[in-house]
Amino acid sequence: MLIFLDSANLEHIQSAARLGVVSGATTNPSLVAKGGGKGTYKEIVLSILDLLSGEVSVEVLSEERNSMIEEARDYSSWSPRIVVKIPPTWEGISAISILSQEGVKTNLTLCFSLNQALLGANAGVTYVSPFVGRLDDVGEDGMRLVADIVETFSRYNIQTRVIAASLRHPLHCVQAFKAGAHIATMPYEVLLKMVDHPLTTIGISRFMKDAQRII
Ligand code: E4P
Repeated sequence: MLIFLDSANLEHIQSAARLGVVSGATTNPSLVAKGGGKGTYKEIVLSILDLLSGEVSVEVLSEERNSMIEEARDYSSWSPRIVVKIPPTWEGISAISILSQEGVKTNLTLCFSLNQALLGANAGVTYVSPFVGRLDDVGEDGMRLVADIVETFSRYNIQTRVIAASLRHPLHCVQAFKAGAHIATMPYEVLLKMVDHPLTTIGISRFMKDAQRII
């Protein structure tokens, strides 16, 4: 399972990139707005691309099919590593159908059902992003949706990749891994917590103390 950073915070992306295990990033308008980056939408996205060698998902800001298509064509002209996030509305699915024929990489964002994932796959979407945490928030089992999409896509040999998104804590990462997600996209804070284990910290501290006696 690949790890993506779900962030538009340049400091966090730079720090995470140093770990050498982050294969890409996902952004959305809320993340860009709170990321604190200076410059236009395009400048911020280009800065993220400079910090990582993998793909970066960028969300369309319009809701009508033709405007989404125009936006997506523009974004994908910025770099071959851009993936365009489009929601599974009637207009969005229709836009993905056109864009996939043009070779524009797309990510079905805000995916909350197997039906939406199926429509995206039939439209030729590159990635689907089931939003685990937001489903959990309304009393549904978000990770069950990830597992269902992975299992069903595999049964029908559908090539669309599954990104477990809206992950809120390290247990979500473990569950996404077990559910067979191809990618987990997570906030910087969750990545930090994945590294942490109190027994590792205690173990290092004991080894360092004992090392004083042998130097
Ligand atoms: C994924 O692509 C989304 O940007 C993200 O995971 C949404 O997470 P949230 O529900 O915590 O906002």
